[in-house]
Amino acid sequence: MRLVNILGAAMMALTASAQNYVPSAEVKKSQEDFSDDRFGIFIHWGIYSMFGQGEWYLNYGPNAEEYMKAAKGFYPADFNAAEWVSAIKDAGAKYITITSRHHDGFSMFDTAENDYNIVDGTPFKRDILKELSEECQKQGIALHLYYSHLDWVRDDYPQGRTGKTTGRDASKADWNSYYGFMNRQLTELLTNYGPIRAIWFDGWWDHDEDTVAFDWQLPEQYELIHSLQPACMVANNHHQTPFPGEDIQIFERDLPGENTAGMSGQEVSRLPLETCNTMNGMWGYKIMDQNYKDATTLIRYLVKAAGMGANLLLNVGPQPNGELPATALSRMKEMGEWLRQNGETIYGTEAGPFPAQSWGTATRKGNRLFVHVMTPETNAILLPTDIKIKKAFEFGSGKPVKFSKTGNHTLIEIEELPNSPDYIIECEL
Ligand code: GLC
Repeated sequence: MRLVNILGAAMMALTASAQNYVPSAEVKKSQEDFSDDRFGIFIHWGIYSMFGQGEWYLNYGPNAEEYMKAAKGFYPADFNAAEWVSAIKDAGAKYITITSRHHDGFSMFDTAENDYNIVDGTPFKRDILKELSEECQKQGIALHLYYSHLDWVRDDYPQGRTGKTTGRDASKADWNSYYGFMNRQLTELLTNYGPIRAIWFDGWWDHDEDTVAFDWQLPEQYELIHSLQPACMVANNHHQTPFPGEDIQIFERDLPGENTAGMSGQEVSRLPLETCNTMNGMWGYKIMDQNYKDATTLIRYLVKAAGMGANLLLNVGPQPNGELPATALSRMKEMGEWLRQNGETIYGTEAGPFPAQSWGTATRKGNRLFVHVMTPETNAILLPTDIKIKKAFEFGSGKPVKFSKTGNHTLIEIEELPNSPDYIIECEL
């Protein structure tokens, strides 16, 4: 009876401390830097790239033991961390989020936990995460790590609603063993790879249909992360409103508040926001998917995200040889060219004073309002805000633009309908 009371009190204390979570000064600084960044590149890379069918391949039939043999043939001869980081910086991205371990359980870093990893389990034997983290520090770009909560190959992971056909022995499920494994790996990641600005979890939803709520023991895990690296933010792609202890809110394949892909009905919180999306249709390398969005679409998506005060984390799935696909590289190049001219209206901005309109959106920096005209139907652009504008001019050229008050709103008249991804008018407030 007493033990029950003590345990109960301890749990209540923990829940209370998690609920009263206040980010540390170090986390707050990371949140500010993160929000200023606005654009990051997501990298989904693992042994799944060899099958060329995306990172969920193992879920669709193969037996885990057979699948894991692929590690012995993984030799990404053309991997070059310096080239990746330069290309990503050139794209105008300010951070990289890479899969340290995806649902197939393969670790893309040197772990002491098992041999199913890039150093001990492949003929390549190089710790690509080490090389990448060193290069990120050298070139001054922040590093975030994706880490899968679920695992399709380990017996001790209590099976959820995915990965049911991989041949795991469900009778060997052992949460304590698996939880310990994850926390030891997180400790390795946060000890051996320099500053990590965020841990990006994924897979919580594997147990969202359990009849008895599954306890992932997140508060303790989040505390571990914050204690190992006080500036490291916690993010979780659970598709829910953020839980206590989380420092970023993530949306998958949708802008905050939108839900076209069916994963993002959750409320928009006051945390820094990030939406991740693909350039083609898949995260991991998929040989049959060459259906890349064009640069205009990608630029407009970034602008729309910025207009909502959100970051865009845009995905690239490297090839099995370690190169980034040529089409992805060319899109990144085009985005970089655009950002070199117009980045001033994206980086370090806040959401505009009104929601997205059919013609576009707005971002704001101090007393500067940037009106992003992307898909206007007429030359008259109505800003639905009573904000007082002193001057309006074309961003870049400084050429004056006509504006007038209509009621509480402002009407901007543009001379010619733009033939560009984004025609930007700067307003002085
Ligand atoms: C999904 C998928 C996963 C991908 C992630 C990226 O949750 O399970 O494969 O890594 O989305 O957002």
